[in-house]
Amino acid sequence: MTQKIPKLLVKRTSIHGQWSSRWAFILAATGSAVGLGNIWRFPYLTGENGGGAFVLIYLFFVLVVGLPIMMAEIMLGRRGRQSPINTMKTLAEEEGLSHYWQLLGWMGVAAGFIILSYYSVIAGWTLAYIFRTGLGMFVDADAELSTRLFSDLIADPEKLLAWHTTFMMMTILVVARGVKSGLEKAVKFLMPALFILLLVMVGYAMSTEKFMQGIEYLFVPDFDAIAEKNFFSDIMLPAMGQAFFSLSLGMGAIMIYGSYLAQRSSIPWTSVSIALADTSVALLAGVAIFPIVFTYGLEPAGGPGLIFVSLPIAFGQMPFGTFFGCLFFILLMFAGWTSAISLLEPAVTWLVENRSMKRIKATAIAGTIAWSLGLVTVLSFNKWAFSFSFAGQEKENGFFDIFDILTANIMLPLGGLLVAIFAAWLMSTRSTMEELGVGDTLIYRGWRFAVKYIAPVGVIIIFLNAIGIV
Ligand code: TRP
Repeated sequence: MTQKIPKLLVKRTSIHGQWSSRWAFILAATGSAVGLGNIWRFPYLTGENGGGAFVLIYLFFVLVVGLPIMMAEIMLGRRGRQSPINTMKTLAEEEGLSHYWQLLGWMGVAAGFIILSYYSVIAGWTLAYIFRTGLGMFVDADAELSTRLFSDLIADPEKLLAWHTTFMMMTILVVARGVKSGLEKAVKFLMPALFILLLVMVGYAMSTEKFMQGIEYLFVPDFDAIAEKNFFSDIMLPAMGQAFFSLSLGMGAIMIYGSYLAQRSSIPWTSVSIALADTSVALLAGVAIFPIVFTYGLEPAGGPGLIFVSLPIAFGQMPFGTFFGCLFFILLMFAGWTSAISLLEPAVTWLVENRSMKRIKATAIAGTIAWSLGLVTVLSFNKWAFSFSFAGQEKENGFFDIFDILTANIMLPLGGLLVAIFAAWLMSTRSTMEELGVGDTLIYRGWRFAVKYIAPVGVIIIFLNAIGIV
């Protein structure tokens, strides 16, 4: 009888190291969460989906689905203390469940490769824009010039390839050195710096003519604007996908970071801080961008180029714009860098654990796979470009859009759904209560209710709706 009772206080340690403090973990996980997703993806999806209604639903998903799943992912990671694949395998064995649960880890690794492959190409754009703004190319530029400069960049596969390669090498470099030496130091001052610069941008946005129009667009839901769209598949699905994408959930990134978290740190508290920081950056980016979009007569539904077209116009107008513009894209590049790292980490840890590879070799191999896949994205903006319609939206960049939709709207929510089911329905209350470390409190019960019912039901309903079953 006794051996059936789950072991109390499982004391595993990670072979890959541990964060030096809870603060280090918060910074690293925030570094993963805050990235191009907040400043590039959030504004352009908001623009494509009519503004305020999308933002409201996005916030709702962050709160009721994202936050509880984030707690669950960190918890599983810390309990397993291995790559997501082996963590799921170990925990499933421990709870007497099928070893097929490791497939969840595999799906995460696959999603990580696909996301990183195109993420690196977009991060490459930020590298190009560091030089473009720094060289003063946008001084007094109008909407037409800025649009043309952007189109020129993405029409040129060789340039995209060069920047994509540079960025992927930077990512490989940091991951190869290990999370602590590389990562911890970088995030500590870059994150606050990015935040402050965004505030500067918001300050500029306030001085533009159409500031209030931008604010209204973001925060006042206009359901008429999305009247022809299917609310579930066209608004809810992308909003849910963005919540997962922005919080780095559903593919094991937060899980692997959780595996380096010290036993005594509070998971609920850290999760709330990460989600709060992530959401504020996204909203600030929106507040900085939309007034500029309206003031200069740009199209909010302009797609993935939105920030690369709109912000440089503002930099071209504002005092010290060349300096601020260059600095902004440097910080954005760093934000993307600290996120890209977390996309590669789950695969690398698995190679180290199961193929007994050195970290350097594992990183080189995983990075090369993601880099190769990135070539498809490079070509999807020019030679291989084709368009299709999705969620009431004309998508013009073929494979890039397919990769993005497949991962953010399908694989990540599916991963999150499985995490929720595993943590709330299959793991014993005893294990989860022990690992979350808040005892049988209101926080624990609220969390359990959210991961047990709200999150799975939410994801399932939206999936079924999106494929037209409900
Ligand atoms: N969250 C990051 C961003 O907003 C991207 C990212 C990093 C990510 N790790 C992830 C997305 C894991 C999904 C899953 O830019």
